[in-house]
Amino acid sequence: MTQDEQKKAAAEYAVKVVENDMRVGLGSGSTANYFIKAAAEKVKRENLNTVFVASSNASEALGKSLGLNVKSLDEVPLLDFTVDGADEIDPQFRMIKGGGGAQLREKIVASSSRFVVCIADHTKLVQQLGAFPLPIEVSRFGVNATTWKLERTLAKLNYTDVQMRLRAKADGTPYITDSGNPIIDLKLGKITDAERLDAELHAIPGVTETGLFIGICGVLMLGTDIGVEEITRK
Ligand code: 5RP
Repeated sequence: MTQDEQKKAAAEYAVKVVENDMRVGLGSGSTANYFIKAAAEKVKRENLNTVFVASSNASEALGKSLGLNVKSLDEVPLLDFTVDGADEIDPQFRMIKGGGGAQLREKIVASSSRFVVCIADHTKLVQQLGAFPLPIEVSRFGVNATTWKLERTLAKLNYTDVQMRLRAKADGTPYITDSGNPIIDLKLGKITDAERLDAELHAIPGVTETGLFIGICGVLMLGTDIGVEEITRK
């Protein structure tokens, strides 16, 4: 199976958790899009009364276009579960997210859910986080000052050889999230202290949210060459 087929298989497997009268959080990205499509088919086929809350404008638009009942998190502040993708996930189910720029809303939606399912193709499962650049959503105000504080914090934590990049669109202008913020991507190589790193990054005024999701995912549904493997966090 190709990577894309594995994403689709994981998403279609995950749809088994969608039941009548549930409140379901929708992630963002290509794997989450497969889940949204599979959920829409199931809701239609079984005539389910399920309410969905989206973690990005794109997921909301896709869900609504497929006929899902999508409400805001303010209308439905407690969710039964959320299904979302990941850029990297390690054996402790710590994740890097935000490759698609939605990590702030994704984390708010995930943390409003009783449990979180990660759906991914097998390349996302890594022994150590950090090859994928860690997205940091920052306030528009004082981006250069925040960048300097990020550099200082990373040096204190002995991250040498860090590549920092203000995320840009294809036309070269800064990428801006659905919440109106820029993103600074940190290529760290190896993250050896995810919990401490996350705490230190959050302590910087101007950092709105990090792409580290720790203690959030409970179940991983992983697309592999031979089918979908379901793994529960120990
Ligand atoms: C978006 C995300 C996505 O879940 C992550 O980037 C994975 O994307 P894909 O499913 O397209 O590989 O965190 O902010």
